[in-house]
Amino acid sequence: MGLQAEHLCKSYGKKEALKGVSFTLHKGTYGLLGENGAGKSTLMRMMATVDFPTKGEILYEGKDIFRLDEEYRSLIGYMPQNYNVYPGFTARDFLEYMGVLKGIPKEKLKSRIDEVLEFVNLADVSGKKVKTFSGGMKRRIGIAQAIINDPEILILDEPTAGLDPSERIRFSNIISNMGKDKIVLLSTHIVSDIEAIASELVVMRKGEILKTGDVDALVQAVKGEVWETVVNQETYQQLRKERSIIHLKQMGKEVQVRFVGENYIGADCQQVEPTLEDYYIFTSGINID
Ligand SMILES: Nc1ncnc2c1ncn2[C@@H]1O[C@H](COP(=O)(O)OP(=O)(O)OP(=O)(O)O)[C@@H](O)[C@H]1O
Ligand SMILES: [Mg+2]
Repeated sequence: MGLQAEHLCKSYGKKEALKGVSFTLHKGTYGLLGENGAGKSTLMRMMATVDFPTKGEILYEGKDIFRLDEEYRSLIGYMPQNYNVYPGFTARDFLEYMGVLKGIPKEKLKSRIDEVLEFVNLADVSGKKVKTFSGGMKRRIGIAQAIINDPEILILDEPTAGLDPSERIRFSNIISNMGKDKIVLLSTHIVSDIEAIASELVVMRKGEILKTGDVDALVQAVKGEVWETVVNQETYQQLRKERSIIHLKQMGKEVQVRFVGENYIGADCQQVEPTLEDYYIFTSGINID
């Protein structure tokens, strides 16, 4: 059961943004990772019922979400990628407006708004206009509106984009505190966000799902295959042709390199502990060099 996509396709004219995507999400936090244009936002928009699939279906507890309609929508919270359209509302007025749209009874709404403002750390500025907020504060009010109805399913499209390091940590704490009893799906370009926030990974590429799985288990899959070494330019040129380079640092005439694959005989390599970034670059075939 859970939230299931079945052979989901979406085309915009000739452009196939999703090419038959299937997966099931259970309770837990899922990080959706993929390059620009991979189809992350397209997928999330459909899961939030703001866009329709060309083919295929999305089921919640076995029922089509578009048929469940209002019943499903009352269970979800959604923050779109470009969430930047705020009328001249204060933070509190904005949340009240969103709360009414989501059908929260008036007698409960005020205390719920206090709760979410506290939760996203915006209680002090609740009387300020949202359009005067910094990027990070706008993201947090975006999260606040998404969680105001205490949703069972939370869909956040790039919630950490443009956040500074302290905002980012605050955000991971917000999500971790949300508990394990929800389905949380968040997209990002930042691999370390996934390590900090999500326990499950979904990798998309060119409209398809490349990999899904438990973050720790996926990282362990490259254990014993991640190496670091310092080599001269000539050896490096050879190495980069034969291995996936994760990271490199120029050190005068030499280069410090981190790579994934088999040990490289032509250099003195130290085996190192794998990270999610090693796994991601290796499996998605991205060449950083
Ligand atoms: N309304 C639209 N009309 C035409 N093409 C679209 C539309 N929306 C998305 N696309 C195309 O569909 C593909 C997937 O786009 P999508 O926005 O889902 O990618 P994404 O993974 O969210 O990318 P990003 O990381 O840049 O946010 C892209 O090629 C995009 O150009
Ligand atoms: Mg997107």
